[in-house]
Amino acid sequence: MATSRGHFSSRLGFILAAAGSAVGLGNIWKFPFEVGDGGGAAFVVMYLVFCFLLCFPVMTAEIAIGRRTQRNAVGAFKVLNKPRWAFIGFMGIAAGLLILSFYNVVAGWAFGYVIEMLMGNFEIGTQFGDYIKDWLKIGLYGLVFMGVTAFIVSHGIQAGIERAAKILMPSLIMLMVALSAYAMTLDGAMAGIEFYLVPDFSKINGQVVYSALGQAFFSLSLGMGALITYGSYLNKDQNIVQAAAFITLMDVGIAFLAGLMLFPFVFSQGLEPTGGAGLIFVTLPGVFSDLGPNIGVIVGTLFFTLLTFAALTSTVSLLEVPVAYVVDEHKVPRKRAVWLTATFIFLIGVPSLLSNGASSILTNFIDIIGLAREGATDNSFMTFVGWIANDTFLPFGGMMISIFAAHIWKKENLSAELSLGNENYAGSFVETFINFSISYLAPFVLSMIFVLTVLSKFFAIDLL
Ligand code: PFF
Repeated sequence: MATSRGHFSSRLGFILAAAGSAVGLGNIWKFPFEVGDGGGAAFVVMYLVFCFLLCFPVMTAEIAIGRRTQRNAVGAFKVLNKPRWAFIGFMGIAAGLLILSFYNVVAGWAFGYVIEMLMGNFEIGTQFGDYIKDWLKIGLYGLVFMGVTAFIVSHGIQAGIERAAKILMPSLIMLMVALSAYAMTLDGAMAGIEFYLVPDFSKINGQVVYSALGQAFFSLSLGMGALITYGSYLNKDQNIVQAAAFITLMDVGIAFLAGLMLFPFVFSQGLEPTGGAGLIFVTLPGVFSDLGPNIGVIVGTLFFTLLTFAALTSTVSLLEVPVAYVVDEHKVPRKRAVWLTATFIFLIGVPSLLSNGASSILTNFIDIIGLAREGATDNSFMTFVGWIANDTFLPFGGMMISIFAAHIWKKENLSAELSLGNENYAGSFVETFINFSISYLAPFVLSMIFVLTVLSKFFAIDLL
């Protein structure tokens, strides 16, 4: 059974695939604009606290459940003899479908920018609003992107993704380090750094805490069984705690680097950090243009190519969650499962595609259903899907997974699984910390977040 499902060929393969899942648009596109909206460094501090205190333990639990059961997000609970808890997996699958439906649209934007940069069209930054409105063009990019994702997933986990990630991740990091070093030399850079790194703790309010937690979960691919699924392809002799620590550090590191690069650029271009979802797409073309036509084309094309690949390793993991379920539980051949699921997701993504200007109903969707917040500039259907999937399902899933691992499956079993490949785990400080976090801290914090989301987003009762 285990071999016919496929498994990662090496420890590095797993780590890179899981880090590839974590590192994506969430780090480079979403993190900077969340920081911008959330008031800067105060948000960054909260984000870091959540990543290490809450997300890292939840990550070890997800991977452990997956490896112990060698099953998908739904099947895992059945194998552990707790079929009633399989609803967590179903919610995870629903979250995966929804997230991928709009994530693919944004990935399409990034992919399209590769072409724009290649053609030296640096004006695109100022025309971003028109660009995302052009549903036919963006739809085509999205279709290509989903096709490539499906192609990779249909060929199993190993070969393509493992190999590609080994080259692409280091390249992305190197380019971002170079760009942030360049960013520091620009006029106005220091104002950007100050905004990003000098926290004004008076800015921490319920809303900031709330979005920082949502961002941490999204960015680390937690709460929807992606890491249960990836963990299910992992060998028993590998050290999960170490792998999870590495994945967390890598993900946080790349998000941090993205901010270090972007905020000096934003301020040096005289733009506002609160630029919302367009932030990198509006800011960066101007920066690349300033590098001069030749270097600008090279650096711009390279940057958006790497961003597109970072998105690709994430879309692969998003698609793998429902696919693994259909393959394991309904015995559908992998290829068929992949193409059917990908087509379905693309179709449910069409309203998101149209919600950035093409259709006024979908663009103002949140306003139309009466849930718009005061002063909100983005009321699109796409944002609404994010409320449901990212802001509601992920924290809820994370809470349930923690409760399940600590209190239903039981800490002893979790510890036993985490001790495989890690002899010193039992009795260590890390064990005490992980157990405390998933038993009490995570369920408590995540349940509050869940209640706050539902009240504030869906019932317009604002407690924050
Ligand atoms: N972590 C990805 C990112 O930051 O871009 C997004 C994501 C991938 C979320 C996979 C959830 C997931 F299961």
